Amino acid sequence: MNISVFGSGMVGRTLSAKLVERRHNVVLGTRDVDALLARTEAGMGGRLPPFAEWHRDHSSVQLAPFAVAAESADLIFNATAGEATLDVLKSAGEENLDGKILIDVSNPLDHSSGFPPTLSVCNTESLAEQIQATFSGARVVKTLNTVTAAVMVEPDAVEGGDHHIFVSGNDHEAKDRVVELLKSEFGWRNVIDLGDIKTARGPEMYLPLWLQLMGNLGTPMFNIKVAH
Ligand SMILES: NC(=O)c1ccc[n+]([C@@H]2O[C@H](COP(=O)([O-])OP(=O)(O)OC[C@H]3O[C@@H](n4cnc5c(N)ncnc54)[C@H](OP(=O)(O)O)[C@@H]3O)[C@@H](O)[C@H]2O)c1
Repeated sequence: MNISVFGSGMVGRTLSAKLVERRHNVVLGTRDVDALLARTEAGMGGRLPPFAEWHRDHSSVQLAPFAVAAESADLIFNATAGEATLDVLKSAGEENLDGKILIDVSNPLDHSSGFPPTLSVCNTESLAEQIQATFSGARVVKTLNTVTAAVMVEPDAVEGGDHHIFVSGNDHEAKDRVVELLKSEFGWRNVIDLGDIKTARGPEMYLPLWLQLMGNLGTPMFNIKVAH
């Protein structure tokens, strides 16, 4: 499948690398390819190498501006900073999103007051709903935003995969296809369909608890298991 992954950070890189490994044709979308390759700074306190260094080891991931990446895609992942997501999608071109499954893994984090970040959208709305409302032709499915990047593509790395991931979206066929992709390409076994796109509010509002747990546990390698 032709898959575009919007985002050059930890999540975009992790999803792209896994999807290439699974033999998909992957284009990573960014604002400016030359600027991205020219960056020399490491991210995430030194844990994320400069992009060019990462790309040398993952050269089969193609690079393109968001609009070009969107045009060629059968399916798109949004792994961009929540505060920039709507602008990124606008720059990708509404016509390039029409009819396509848009898997949104972003979180609406506002870092303007330092750590911990607050939520820029919550309670009565979610970023996923804003995306769906702004790009009505896109088939938005919210998922994977409740786990760290490494767990997104390798759930077995935590407790042998015995834990849960959520999906939310209005389009049942799109959700079914995303559930299938989560299972076949990433190895998820337990997927809970929460309901329509409004149900993305809960997973997005989980982020403050996720951040607190990461601090207490000293690792991002954990997830929720729903027992009932
Ligand atoms: N890190 C995790 O493990 C994790 C887990 C779950 C969910 N998430 C969510 O996944 C998303 C990606 O997270 P991340 O840590 O990989 O990367 P990030 O640093 O949050 O986002 C990087 C991406 O956002 C784009 N971006 C940032 N500011 C922009 C602006 N002003 N205008 C246009 N584009 C802008 C960057 O574009 P360029 O490529 O042009 O620089 C880049 O592609 C976030 O919403 C995050 O909350 C992260």
